[in-house]
Amino acid sequence: MTEITGDITKKREQRYSYGLMLLRECIEKKRPLTNPNVKERKVLLRAENISIAFGKLQALNNVMVEVKEGEILAIIGPNGAGKTCLLNVISGFYRAQQGDVYMEEKKITHLSSHKIAELGLCRTFQNIALYTGLSVTDNIIAGRHPHIGYNFVTGMIYFPWANKEEAFQRAIAEDIIDFLELEHVRGSVVGMLAYGLRKRVELGRALALEPRILLLDEPMAGMNLDEKEDMARFIIDINEFLKIPIVLIEHDMGVVMDIADRIVVLDFGNKIAEGVPEEIKGNPKVIAAYLGAG
Ligand SMILES: Nc1ncnc2c1ncn2[C@@H]1O[C@H](COP(=O)(O)OP(=O)(O)O)[C@@H](O)[C@H]1O
Ligand SMILES: [Mg+2]
Repeated sequence: MTEITGDITKKREQRYSYGLMLLRECIEKKRPLTNPNVKERKVLLRAENISIAFGKLQALNNVMVEVKEGEILAIIGPNGAGKTCLLNVISGFYRAQQGDVYMEEKKITHLSSHKIAELGLCRTFQNIALYTGLSVTDNIIAGRHPHIGYNFVTGMIYFPWANKEEAFQRAIAEDIIDFLELEHVRGSVVGMLAYGLRKRVELGRALALEPRILLLDEPMAGMNLDEKEDMARFIIDINEFLKIPIVLIEHDMGVVMDIADRIVVLDFGNKIAEGVPEEIKGNPKVIAAYLGAG
C-alpha cells in the first residue's frame, strides 16, 4: 500500500472496527480471510484480449487485465476511454466480440450477469441503480438475496414478521449501515437521499452480497473532497478487513493514486499503461492522454 493522504489516515484512526464484524463472520465461514504477501498473490480474475466495437467505434481494443487476491486495482482514463465497457464485459452486461474472462481459471465469458454475480463478482454502477422507493435498510437487505432466497427477502421487506433468520439478516444490514455511517438515514427512502449518500447505499448493497471481488464504477464521481475521502476510507477498510479485492474505476486521478496498489490506464479503448502509482504518475503517455482529453 502506498501512503494515504493524512486526512484519510486520521479519519480511519478515529473510528475503526465499527461494523462489519457480522459480515466478516459470514464470509469467513466460506473462505479463509488471509492476505497473502504481495509477491505470492494469486490471480483471481483475468480479462484476456478483450475487444468490443459499436459500429466504427472501437470501445476496447485487445485489452488484458488481471485482478489479484487482496489488491486494490484502479482502472483510470479520460471519459470515453472504455472503463465502463470493460466492467460491463467482465460482469456479463456486454458481450465482447473477442476475448475471454476467467474467474479462478473458470471461463465466465458466456455466463449471464446474474450468474456472474452469484459467483461473487459484485458491482456498483456509474449511474446509481437502487430501489428508490425502499428504505436504506431494505435496499441493503435486498443485497442478501443469494444468501437467503429471493422470496424470503421480498417477504422480509413487505411483510416483516419476526423470526430468527429475519433478525439475523437485519443485524447484518445494520452492521453494514454502522460501517458506512448511514445510521441517521437508515429508515429514509433512498430516492430522497443526497447523491453522496445514495452512492454509499449502493456500496452497502454490493457488500451485503458478500463479494469475492468488488467492482466499483466511479464511486466517487460528483462528490466533494470530504465525501471522496470518506468513500476512499470505506474502500480501504473493506479491502483490509474483509480481504476483498477491489476494482476501482475512476476518472479523477487524485484519490486513486493514494489508495490503489496497482493502476491500469485506458485511453481510446487501448491499455496505455499499467503499474504501481509511482510508475503511472510520471508516465508521459498517461500525462498526454489526460492533457489531450482537456
Ligand atoms: N452501448 C453502447 N452503444 C454505443 N456506444 C457505446 C455503448 N457503450 C459505450 N459506448 C461507447 O464506448 C466508448 C467507451 O465508453 P465507456 O466505457 O462508457 O467510457 P468510460 O471510460 O468513460 O467509462 C464511448 O465512446 C461510448 O460512447
Ligand atoms: Mg464510465
